[in-house]
Amino acid sequence: DFVAIAALILAYLAGSVSAAIIVCRIMGLPDPRTDGSRNPGTTNVLRLGGKKAAILTLLGDMLKGVLPVLAARYYGLDVMLVSAIGFAAFMGHLYPIFFRFEGGKGVATALGVLLALSPIIGGTVIALWITAFALTRYSSLGAIVGFIAAPILTQFLLPEAMLGVVGMSLLLLARHKANMKALIEGTERRFK
Ligand code: G3P
Repeated sequence: DFVAIAALILAYLAGSVSAAIIVCRIMGLPDPRTDGSRNPGTTNVLRLGGKKAAILTLLGDMLKGVLPVLAARYYGLDVMLVSAIGFAAFMGHLYPIFFRFEGGKGVATALGVLLALSPIIGGTVIALWITAFALTRYSSLGAIVGFIAAPILTQFLLPEAMLGVVGMSLLLLARHKANMKALIEGTERRFK
């Protein structure tokens, strides 16, 4: 119906606002699409601009996932539709209408969606991501571990949200193909 379609479109538009590109532009940092790993995301902003810029990017991109999902829940939409609205925000991040449809890998936005869907699922995935990153110093590996776990946790804790969560996790893992190859070959960028 109208509410569902309007919510999906609004979520996609919100997701299309790239925090990495905006933060780097405002702070006078290199364009994350052409420098470092060439990915407009938190990890690459950390590489190019340091912690403050990275935290702003992380919060901005997470918020794009949190707000549409919370609004949809507040409105009383059913969980499957809420998860689809989260997926729409995630799609905006991957294929942003404002940036020639060339977006990021979706980690921060997907974490925001998960947190707003279920603090337990979101919190667990964030904990896995941070732990794997802290232990290995590879941000991508943290994301890969977290989003292999996300659908499994969702199946047990909030099965109605599987549609959106599986969709996000599959696309997120697919976006990390080059990272996986680099991890296997030992050439992945590592933080000190
Ligand atoms: O935030 C995406 C992360 O998992 C990998 O980013 O820049 O190292 O390819 P990057």
